[in-house]
Amino acid sequence: MRAALKVLLTGSDGQLGQALRASKPEGVTLIACGRAELDLAAADACAAAVRQHRPDWVLNAGAYTAVDKAEAEPELAGAVNAGAPGAFATALAGSGGRLLQVSTDFVFNGEQGHPYRPEQHLDPIGVYGRSKAEGEQRARAALPADRCCVLRTSWVYGPVGKNFCLTMLRLHGLRAAAGEALAVVADQVGCPTATHSLAAACWAALSHRSSGILHWSDAGAASWYDFAVAIGELGVARGLLPQAAEVRPITTDDYPTPARRPSYSLLDCSATRPALGLEPRHWRSALDEVIKAVGSQG
Ligand SMILES: NC(=O)c1ccc[n+]([C@@H]2O[C@H](COP(=O)([O-])OP(=O)(O)OC[C@H]3O[C@@H](n4cnc5c(N)ncnc54)[C@H](OP(=O)(O)O)[C@@H]3O)[C@@H](O)[C@H]2O)c1
Repeated sequence: MRAALKVLLTGSDGQLGQALRASKPEGVTLIACGRAELDLAAADACAAAVRQHRPDWVLNAGAYTAVDKAEAEPELAGAVNAGAPGAFATALAGSGGRLLQVSTDFVFNGEQGHPYRPEQHLDPIGVYGRSKAEGEQRARAALPADRCCVLRTSWVYGPVGKNFCLTMLRLHGLRAAAGEALAVVADQVGCPTATHSLAAACWAALSHRSSGILHWSDAGAASWYDFAVAIGELGVARGLLPQAAEVRPITTDDYPTPARRPSYSLLDCSATRPALGLEPRHWRSALDEVIKAVGSQG
């Protein structure tokens, strides 16, 4: 980090928030806000936090991320995912600070079949994606363009928190022991992104004073089925599982959920990688690092 920076981090107990705290660069003074310190559904509290701390950056990693539950709680999802970034941006416009708003591949409808570029039209297909898209728009509307950065990412997982990787490690163990198969959706394609890689991209964006819209994911492409198979293989290779369960590919129609998900949501990260000076890593090698980290937690 070039100069001393004061950063107000939201969602500091979430999976990305924890990775950001663990990788804080020298020179950053971090004001870490979890749910207990700052309720993101309270726009007044978000604005007051900016006025109180006068951060150089708000790094808004907090979000209402329960994609299915959001279908039944659109107001709360909207307050957290759109209201908070709007309130931060409005307050930062007055204080002179900048906003890094973390966003999602779910702002796209998933119908185009090739990677989404940052400037493409948003067309979310569920409540969560709509609330995140509105959060991006409110943030960008309230701040001068050079003081607002939206960083979209996809399929986030890490060694802590609630995520697909940890769920699959547990299910592989249970199903393999029972001699049963695991059924996993094979017709949704995206790219898994490890929290350590995403945290590095966030810190690089602050260091480079990035603005505009950035896409960041690990490299490659996968279906949830591919991801589940790799989790089983690497879980065995790293000694976390005695054996992996057989993984059976199923379709989205076989596994109905309250929220629809984009069937194809790869993000075109080609402009971001040189802009942030970060080399892409294939998702499978990032997954191996996460699984090693899970193993070292005991
Ligand atoms: N997870 C993914 O697959 C994914 C994919 C693309 C983009 N993203 C984006 O990446 C960012 C980080 O997500 P993540 O994966 O780290 O999610 P996460 O683990 O669910 O973390 C989100 C954090 O926000 C907190 N939060 C929720 N509502 C709040 C409220 N009203 N007040 C204060 N805190 C609140 C949560 O607290 P509780 O745990 O107490 O609810 C949690 O600590 C988010 O912007 C998300 O939209 C995530």
